[in-house]
Amino acid sequence: MKGLILSGGKGTRLRPITYTRAKQLVPVANKPVLFRVVDTLVEAGITELAIVVGDTADEIKEAVGDGSRWQAQISYIHQEAPLGLAHAVKISRDFLQDDKFVMFLGDNVIEGGIVPLVQQFTSRDWNAQVVLTRVENPEQFGVAVLEEGRIVRLVEKPRQPPSNLALVGIYMFDPHIFEAVEAIQPSWRGELEITDAIQYLVENGYTVYPYVHEGWWIDTGKMEDMLDANRLVVEEMEPRNEGYVDSDSRLHGRVVIEEGAEIINSVIRGPAIIGEYSRIVNSYVGPFTSIYHHCEIVDSEVEHCIILEHCQILQIDHRIEDSLIGRHVEICRSPLKPRALKFMLGDYSKVGVLSNSR
Ligand code: DAU
Repeated sequence: MKGLILSGGKGTRLRPITYTRAKQLVPVANKPVLFRVVDTLVEAGITELAIVVGDTADEIKEAVGDGSRWQAQISYIHQEAPLGLAHAVKISRDFLQDDKFVMFLGDNVIEGGIVPLVQQFTSRDWNAQVVLTRVENPEQFGVAVLEEGRIVRLVEKPRQPPSNLALVGIYMFDPHIFEAVEAIQPSWRGELEITDAIQYLVENGYTVYPYVHEGWWIDTGKMEDMLDANRLVVEEMEPRNEGYVDSDSRLHGRVVIEEGAEIINSVIRGPAIIGEYSRIVNSYVGPFTSIYHHCEIVDSEVEHCIILEHCQILQIDHRIEDSLIGRHVEICRSPLKPRALKFMLGDYSKVGVLSNSR
């Protein structure tokens, strides 16, 4: 069994973060989402992996490498443009050969891994198995209809969803999928849709089974989704302290302090993680916060945030909440008159300022 991870695409919904970083490399609880995907596959015994990459290929290759960190072999397949998930399968034929494989979208985080699913698929002679989960907003996903335990229909982002079972972005295939991806035509959005390829399998007498996932699952495409994924993952962390916490500081609940981090005269209320060589001084870090490496938080309060590496948040009077803050961001007070808000923000940035009238 091989693994195909999809990490092409543009990540427009996570701008401005994705102007300078692949969306799959944004960390959740201080580990890039893509690393979590590799962990999940390796845990299921799948160590022969390829990652489909696009514009952000160099950055992804540099971060992930050849897979030796996971005792796995990872190669890369270049997709010239995000022409669809089925297109990604099509161009991966040389790597996949005639093996069964798992296809995993590189921006998905799933509770509990895929070990039972892989065991089930490898022990049957089904042609495909698709992971589904019940959602409240099926129109935003691929949606499946089941009959007598099999998938009988799939539609991509339907206006009127025929069920609430969404495709979560984890699929298992045997080589018949290549016949399907060759047979289909691009959709209205110009992509070769994997849902259409699976629909082809159904219509041509191949067996397609569902696997209904009961735990949580998050497609980390938008900021709110990243924060949700972070909230769920930090709640599962084992507390540990590999840094320095002075005697004036307090840690409550699930708190991870990574190597070289320093907590001085501060309160950290978990679940929260403070990354390597970050410094928290005279500050409050509230629940569901992940602070990545080499950050500095001084005389400030943050809660329910993801703060990426090398950020500085200094002497801010108001608590910062529900925020995703990119790399090397500085938020500090300006000593210069006039008293005014002063910004240097990238395209598509979002800032919420407090209104005096409330
Ligand atoms: O998240 C689950 C959903 O993922 C499914 O319910 C849908 O059926 C499926 O089509 C997909 O929809 P999205 O619109 O969310 O897909 P997105 O364009 O965000 O791409 C998902 C991942 O695949 C992302 O990591 C980028 C990568 N990708 C995407 C395309 C279109 C590629 O590597 N190549 C591509 O051509």
